[in-house]
Amino acid sequence: MPDRRLYRPTRAEISLAAIKRNLERVAAVAAPARVLFVVKADAYGHGAVPISLYCQENRLCRSFGVACLEEALELRAAGVKLPLLVLGSLYPFNSFIEAIKNDLTVTISSLDAARQVLEAARLAGKKASCHIKVETGMNRIGARRPSAVKIFQALSGQAGVSVEGVYTHLSSAGADPEYTAQQLDYFRETLSEFGRGGARDLVRHAANSWAAVHLPGSRWDLVRTGLAAYGCMDGFEPALSLKSRVVFIKNVREGASVSYDRSFRAAAPMKIATVPLGYGDGYLRALSGKAEMLVGGRRCRVLGNVTMDMVMLDVTAVERVSVGDEVVAIGRQGAETVAAAGLAELAGTIPYEITTLLTRRVPRIHS
Ligand SMILES: Cc1ncc(COP(=O)(O)O)c(C=O)c1O
Repeated sequence: MPDRRLYRPTRAEISLAAIKRNLERVAAVAAPARVLFVVKADAYGHGAVPISLYCQENRLCRSFGVACLEEALELRAAGVKLPLLVLGSLYPFNSFIEAIKNDLTVTISSLDAARQVLEAARLAGKKASCHIKVETGMNRIGARRPSAVKIFQALSGQAGVSVEGVYTHLSSAGADPEYTAQQLDYFRETLSEFGRGGARDLVRHAANSWAAVHLPGSRWDLVRTGLAAYGCMDGFEPALSLKSRVVFIKNVREGASVSYDRSFRAAAPMKIATVPLGYGDGYLRALSGKAEMLVGGRRCRVLGNVTMDMVMLDVTAVERVSVGDEVVAIGRQGAETVAAAGLAELAGTIPYEITTLLTRRVPRIHS
């Protein structure tokens, strides 16, 4: 079968070396806490399988975090042997059986789930490994203190289950220090109620990337990092570049309209380049008329609406532009950079969405 990467020039290039440097930085700052690398949602769009295998081979993290069973099974099938924590709430409950058979670590957020995992372990004929999730203020999944303590008591000492960890998730680590402190206090007190020696044998964790780097009091035994590892957080090196090439060039006269709904009108004669990248690739339509891409080392504005498969750029100021020239939609060209964080701001969203929403039409090239 021909390699589809050989055709359309649009691609996401992912630097494994950048991910390595980012993870090493997180590990250095968070030590002695270890690093769980969050590779859910296809590693935030960066490609979970090659990245996880690379990190496993280079011993860059202790474990991985995924959202659901399907993501975990894909990694196991690809040869990932490190511990895999499923961060989501497994449902239907019989998925616990598959999780246990594949040596996954499951999250237990309710007494009901605790009973179900015990039963699943019996049916699987194998010990289940789990982390208890404590609700401290995110109000997504997790047990409040009394339930968390009951879950711990119900599961510890059971032959079928090994309670290996306990964790919580911060809702506003970088944005609301007071609320974050309350969440951490609640978590700390919950750990103390697990009883003498109880929580000390568990892997305790709360920090996401921001907290891991900036909040020493959030680190405990493990930090769960995604954003920093992908370099989408201040002070880290972006791992993903989104690139394409000019496929068409035209000169238009003053008054010409460009794209759907005549969403751009030329105020003067101009040169326009068409690039095969659109919202069908995950390049958000909210970037219409706002974002810039790099051509010939210059910033070129997206003209009018982003269409499903193409965008038009103002390349009037680019000298000697031709079909085939490289276009950088995210990343660096010469002295200029377009960052996912900047695009997120223009689109009214967060950097997580900018990379995670890149679709499967965009080949990921890892090097
Ligand atoms: C439970 C959990 N832990 C950790 C993370 C990682 O967060 P970040 O990418 O900000 O490091 C996420 C990401 O959404 C998460 O849902």
